[in-house]
Amino acid sequence: MINLLDIRYVRLGTRDRAAADRFAREVVGLQPTRDEGGALYYRSDARDHTLVYFDGNPRDHTVGFELRTAAELEAAGAALSDAGLVVHAGTSDECEQRRVHSFINFRDPTGNSIDLVLRPHHNGPRYFPSRDAGITGFSHVGLCSTDPARDERFWTGVLGARVSDRIGEAPLLRIDEVHHKVALFATDRAGVQHINHQVAGIDDLMRSWYLLQQRGVRIVFGPGRHPTSGAMFLYFEGPDGMVYEYSTGVRTITASEEATYQPRQFPARPESFCLWGAVPEIAEFQRSDAAAT
Ligand SMILES: [Fe+2]
Repeated sequence: MINLLDIRYVRLGTRDRAAADRFAREVVGLQPTRDEGGALYYRSDARDHTLVYFDGNPRDHTVGFELRTAAELEAAGAALSDAGLVVHAGTSDECEQRRVHSFINFRDPTGNSIDLVLRPHHNGPRYFPSRDAGITGFSHVGLCSTDPARDERFWTGVLGARVSDRIGEAPLLRIDEVHHKVALFATDRAGVQHINHQVAGIDDLMRSWYLLQQRGVRIVFGPGRHPTSGAMFLYFEGPDGMVYEYSTGVRTITASEEATYQPRQFPARPESFCLWGAVPEIAEFQRSDAAAT
């Protein structure tokens, strides 16, 4: 069984790096760190980078996860090959781009591109944002799934994730104590469905809610509170239709709860996404809604 230590980064293609750069810095509030080899790198916490925009197809997305040891990375490659997947070992150039010692890449059954990385760089100087959105760090992604039940089996059976809750058929998956680091939402394509950054508190969410509206950024869901994770949230639209999320107050499932924790089934309804009554304008959340009715 593969044991994912944490999520590390998202890499996104774009045809308009200037627009993506403005959005990452001025709207999301990330810290630009490098413009290198056709790619822009951003920090959101103590990691070298957590977001990359590179010149390329806007549908080309990769999510990176860290493993603990070289032996685990080697075993992961073997396990994925045994599961019938094509595993690519990162070249030295690709490792340099990612600021990792080594990595492998594969695609999950939907076709989502996943890096498993070893010894990713940390960054000593503290994160200094472009604007103070209150970001405390990159935390999770929603992934597209053409068959959430099948992909849940893969993510739990091969990658060692655990189901924290389900909304309809969409599983919210944890790899550590945080309620979810990955969620799988039904749709007809592969790729990242949303990108989450944690913020320090509700004041940050609400300040961003007003600021984003003033700047003409489309709010697609919230402010609201997820009944699943307990987190308060705000979702908004970024370049190439990517959905970004700020949230705060996510619950944890501690080591002492782990043995007895039972995932809860939430019905596929808007109330399962928001306790306060916000209705998502996010296709995959609406589609989860339609799937069960
Ligand atoms: Fe989220």
